[in-house]
Amino acid sequence: MDKVNANELLEAQAHVWNHIFSFINSMSLKCAVDLGIPDIIHNHGKPMTDSELVAALPTLNPTKARNIHRLMRMLVHSGFFAQQNLSHGVHEDGYVLTNASRLLLKDNRLSITPFLKAMLDPIVTKPWDFLGIWFQNNDCTPFYTAHGKALWDYAGHNPKLGNLFNEGMASDARLVSSVLIDKCKGSFEGLDSLVDVGGGTGTLGKAIADAFPHLECTVFDLTHVVAGLQDSGNLKYVGGDMFECVPVADAVLLKWILHDWNDDECLKILKRCKEAISNQDKGTVIKRKVIILEMVVMDKEKLVKEENSKTFETQLLMDVLMMAVLTGRERREEEWAKLFFAAGFSHYKIIPILGLRSLIEVYP
Ligand SMILES: C[S@@+](CC[C@H](N)C(=O)[O-])C[C@H]1O[C@@H](n2cnc3c(N)ncnc32)[C@H](O)[C@@H]1O
Repeated sequence: MDKVNANELLEAQAHVWNHIFSFINSMSLKCAVDLGIPDIIHNHGKPMTDSELVAALPTLNPTKARNIHRLMRMLVHSGFFAQQNLSHGVHEDGYVLTNASRLLLKDNRLSITPFLKAMLDPIVTKPWDFLGIWFQNNDCTPFYTAHGKALWDYAGHNPKLGNLFNEGMASDARLVSSVLIDKCKGSFEGLDSLVDVGGGTGTLGKAIADAFPHLECTVFDLTHVVAGLQDSGNLKYVGGDMFECVPVADAVLLKWILHDWNDDECLKILKRCKEAISNQDKGTVIKRKVIILEMVVMDKEKLVKEENSKTFETQLLMDVLMMAVLTGRERREEEWAKLFFAAGFSHYKIIPILGLRSLIEVYP
């Protein structure tokens, strides 16, 4: 300590404080969404002052009104709102949305608010209090240590978490499907059938079925997840366990499945997928494949660019999230390749077109 000069000491202290309090970013954002602030500013139609915002918050206790400014100052700093001059002669700023808060509007078809609500629900955040304990016990996940059940088991027995989770995933699938169908048409061309394994309530499966009417699409998930969902046109639902058997198709889609599971579990899933696409006698006319939508964790060499550092940090956050709630992980290219070859696939192609995630085609 004696050798560290005062500036370095204080810088180190600031760094530690920043990380101690980083959770306040997530919680402030959740609070703004709970209060409906993005929609209120959007509906106002022009930059909105603090007093206009306070007046528009229907359930606000008047004694708390002055604190709204403090919450907003935080969220302007973190890029969820911006300030614009009101341009009516006086120098006064009003709040406007940014691209990030537009993604949190209720009526935006691509809103990711349900994902935010699922990830920041106390059931999902409680395991963080148990991470240190989990490192010292025999439990499979910190989620298990916190709740006495694995996540899928808990979601199957607790309709609140089940619905939150399925809606959160569906909101992500809406955004992904709009990009996927626009940018990756080629991946689906030439196929007659596709099964979306762990496809949840079918948001992505339905979008693909609508975009490619000749394609027979099956959404396959746990029986309680697909119970009561209606088949329509070229889309059908099948309940079951992907560790036992996957419905036969030309291609299998796995979106955000493999990162939920450890390597041994992924190997089993990939082998079931390989059987599903191999169980057909169509010769070589059809390019059978497994289509995976997942992160490929960035290499250190790419970190020189500032924007890459943010991407890398988000990938690391997701990796530790997978450790806290499930048995999974985010993987680097070498780790993916090892899994694919161990499961008996011959080659693969990574198409980095989904922001933090990539489309990976894997061939038998
Ligand atoms: C992270 S979610 C991904 C959902 C969807 N693919 C998406 O990205 O929007 C994982 C999905 O796997 C399903 N799942 C978990 N265990 C399963 C199993 N043994 N067999 C089939 N599906 C399973 C869950 O019910 C859930 O819908």
